[in-house]
Amino acid sequence: MIVDDEIANVLVAKKHLEQAGYSSFEMTTDSSVALNLICANRPDVVLLDINMPEVDGITILRQLRERAEFRHLPVLILTANSEAEVKLKCLDLGATDFLVKPVDPMELAPRVRNALLTKSFQDQLQKHASQLEEKVQQRTQDLERSRREVIYCLARAAELRDNDTGNHVIRVGRFAGLIADQLDLPNWYVEDVELAAQLHDVGKIAVPDAILLKPGRIEPEEFELIKNHLRKDGPSIEPHCGDDVQTMRKHVEIGSKMLQDGSSLMRLAASIAMTHHENFDGSGYPMGLAGEAIPLEGRITAVADAYDALASDRSYKQALPRATCFEILEQQRGKHFDPAVLDAFFRASRDIVQVQVEFMDFCTPTPA
Ligand SMILES: [Fe+2]
Ligand SMILES: [Fe+2]
Repeated sequence: MIVDDEIANVLVAKKHLEQAGYSSFEMTTDSSVALNLICANRPDVVLLDINMPEVDGITILRQLRERAEFRHLPVLILTANSEAEVKLKCLDLGATDFLVKPVDPMELAPRVRNALLTKSFQDQLQKHASQLEEKVQQRTQDLERSRREVIYCLARAAELRDNDTGNHVIRVGRFAGLIADQLDLPNWYVEDVELAAQLHDVGKIAVPDAILLKPGRIEPEEFELIKNHLRKDGPSIEPHCGDDVQTMRKHVEIGSKMLQDGSSLMRLAASIAMTHHENFDGSGYPMGLAGEAIPLEGRITAVADAYDALASDRSYKQALPRATCFEILEQQRGKHFDPAVLDAFFRASRDIVQVQVEFMDFCTPTPA
């Protein structure tokens, strides 16, 4: 691209460069359209006159350097020898080189060649950088996907014995994320809690089948929640008692130990594993924490897990109607559940029902 208000200068420069083997020229003697032409034609090098009516060369150079895409575009300034101050100004603005007018043909071609060489290195570097960037993005996506898959597999392994579709862990994770979102928590927390909550019962891996799957037995706290809603003609249900309760309850500590030494995500999962059976009024286990002494992620997962247990078929009971589930949760406001978390749950209930539809138990499980 040659920008000079004197047509003779433009044509001379073009002729010399053509003789040196260059082609594909853009030229203008109207400096007011120079910037637009550069944007439209994206030349590899610009020969730019300084003293022009309308817009001067320094202004054009400044405008070019202000745009990221032209920061490295070679700009050769055409100048008279006497303009030392102007030269300094141009250097300051990132001029690539100077050519004294009238242009010496012996000098013009080698200077243009050098500028183009630099430009081609810049272009290669840029291409390489964007290829690298693309690769990094691809790898990051792969890593994120495999991280989700591994978490899901581990969570599912723990649940597989008493919940064979694997959708329970996905639903609890999604519910927890939706509740956290309603509590206006930061995005990273919402995303992490969705993954970490899937692992809430990972410690069940260590509970023997004889206790976990004992026919007609369920965890005492779940029995408490649903006892008024068990059908008279349904299977007879009793809560676990004695040593069985203690063994069942150990799943929180085992899960928490499995996860506690890992990344921040795993530590969040450890916190959930440890505290998802704590009750807001202090009547839960294993530590009997109350109120905000229970980590928020534990309070969130408690609501998510309880709702899914109520609303799903289990070997010992049928799914309860949605209105009944909501009623039971509401009855436990301030007892089992944190009122603020419960409010967030109800605010998210439309999306929560969507998740239930998407991940119904007879659907083929897919990782979240
Ligand atoms: Fe649990
Ligand atoms: Fe659960």
